[in-house]
Amino acid sequence: MPIPPAIDELEPPKVSSPPEATRDPSALRSARWLDAPGVSGFIHRSSLRSEGLSSSAISGRPVIGICNPWSELVNCNLHFRGLAAAVRRGVQQAGGLPLEFGTTSLGENLMKPTTMLYRNLMAMDVEENIRSHPLDAVVLLAGCDKTVPAELMGAVSVDVPVIMVTGGPAQPARFRGRELAVGSDLWRYAEDVRAGRMSQAEFAELEAAANPSVGHCNELGTASTMAALVEALGMTLPGAAAVPATDARRYAVAELAGARAVELAWSGLRPSHILTAEAFDNAVVVLAALGGSTNAIIHLIALAGRAGVDLPLERFDEIAARTPLLVNLRPAGEHLFEDLFHAGGIQTLMAELLPLLHPEAISVNGKSVAANVQGAVPADGSVVGTLANPVGPAGSLAVLRGSLAPSGAVLKASAATPGLLQHSGPAVVFDDIYDLASRIDDDDLAIDERSVLILRNAGPKGGPGMPEWGMLPIPQRLLERGVRDMVRVSDARMSGTGFGTVVLHVSPEAADGGPLGAVQDGDVITLDVARRVLDVAVDERELQARLARKPPRPPAYRRGYGALFAERIQQADRGCDFDFLERLPDEPPQTDPLGFLPGSIGGW
Ligand code: FES
Repeated sequence: MPIPPAIDELEPPKVSSPPEATRDPSALRSARWLDAPGVSGFIHRSSLRSEGLSSSAISGRPVIGICNPWSELVNCNLHFRGLAAAVRRGVQQAGGLPLEFGTTSLGENLMKPTTMLYRNLMAMDVEENIRSHPLDAVVLLAGCDKTVPAELMGAVSVDVPVIMVTGGPAQPARFRGRELAVGSDLWRYAEDVRAGRMSQAEFAELEAAANPSVGHCNELGTASTMAALVEALGMTLPGAAAVPATDARRYAVAELAGARAVELAWSGLRPSHILTAEAFDNAVVVLAALGGSTNAIIHLIALAGRAGVDLPLERFDEIAARTPLLVNLRPAGEHLFEDLFHAGGIQTLMAELLPLLHPEAISVNGKSVAANVQGAVPADGSVVGTLANPVGPAGSLAVLRGSLAPSGAVLKASAATPGLLQHSGPAVVFDDIYDLASRIDDDDLAIDERSVLILRNAGPKGGPGMPEWGMLPIPQRLLERGVRDMVRVSDARMSGTGFGTVVLHVSPEAADGGPLGAVQDGDVITLDVARRVLDVAVDERELQARLARKPPRPPAYRRGYGALFAERIQQADRGCDFDFLERLPDEPPQTDPLGFLPGSIGGW
């Protein structure tokens, strides 16, 4: 039995001072506010004094923001007040001034139509909050899926030193003697209900049991994947990603991150120093070895765009093609994210992957990947495999192109049915999610297990917001005949807890003029994963003629954020970021607020 990582041993608090000469309070970013002469400085200091802070609590110390998306609308993040208190303790131990601030929060389950519609809004909120306030470094608390990429995207755009603390996986649920994965088991039981294998009463019993604690989804869904990638990118403390939400060590991680943030403020180690092309390569290697959520592809591309790093879709395919599956986690495998923690966590995985990584990439603790994985628990061969004896072959993620997806599409091959990875069949087309919901179980629907289910108008513009509708349900009458998987194609995303032979992120989407919008029932669709092909057997001119005949769909939003989203959102192969938020080549990050005039009288 491997020994669980001892967090204190992995990363002792770095409160020891660099040479005093380098600790110049007047060089801190916050000094522009707090040391400003005249009325301006008076107003800034007086505002903090009104919170009950003494003069010595304010002056000469790094100001550390604690970015907290706590919300009763986001059950996964409900322990963040406790985590923020632990961060505060660490900041104070290291001599900083902690100031907590709230931000937009995004919860997968309650927010409609989809959190992805609001990821960029949260990123803008975080970016502008950091830029506009006297913060020398920030601890980012994040948990539920989109909160992680949103905060990182905002932080890298403003490029103030940050460290992330993720919320940790929720405690496993138990139902009728079985340990559950929050998401993937739900999909299976829901199919059992539709197929008549489970009663509504049993389903209600499951509802009460399914979410027994705070924390993010506990299988390898998007939240666990993103937490792992935060560690692979170097943006959290080594060993931190997989610590369970309810484990006391999660709070020790938060405390240590608070202390480390103070050192980051003094040292000036910024996201732009850490989030290099090498760091993104490392994250893609870890993603491929995990067989992680396809959503992570979109988020990594968006984050790279903010960091000024070129990360084309093909890079995922190249790296996945040479990276074996090393982790045996649900939905594709057997274990939960918590089991990965007890097997050594991401450090063990990265130690095993070291020959495939850039070992010199640095982490937020100031050390290299190679240094951070020294002493990691050896792979146990059960939860974490080895390069010599992997859990599965390379190629867990595949990027497809072809006449149906000129700008690309993705498939999680590790969660697909091997026998369907090369398949041709007639299309059964649903024009949108409402069409799908109204017809999928029609007795008249001409469909069999060879058919290819198509859903369109579910992409970034069409959804809008690219909801997780890509795991189209298998028609009930096929379920009852024992069919468990079919080839499904859409411009939507899929929950990281989903599975099946599901082709996602077809770009350009139907609502942006992509050929998916021209497919008709009966057109032959070919999926050939070995050749990375997704084709429709229809002549290009015919596709264009069909598109020209289609009336445009009315916009989903006339006003407000939704209208801005539809106008400026980019396609999945560009990470679904707003075009105006990407960093241009050689463009420096904008760290300071505009209109900041030291010595001005400010507003009163
Ligand atoms: Fe919040 Fe899965 S619903 S992490």
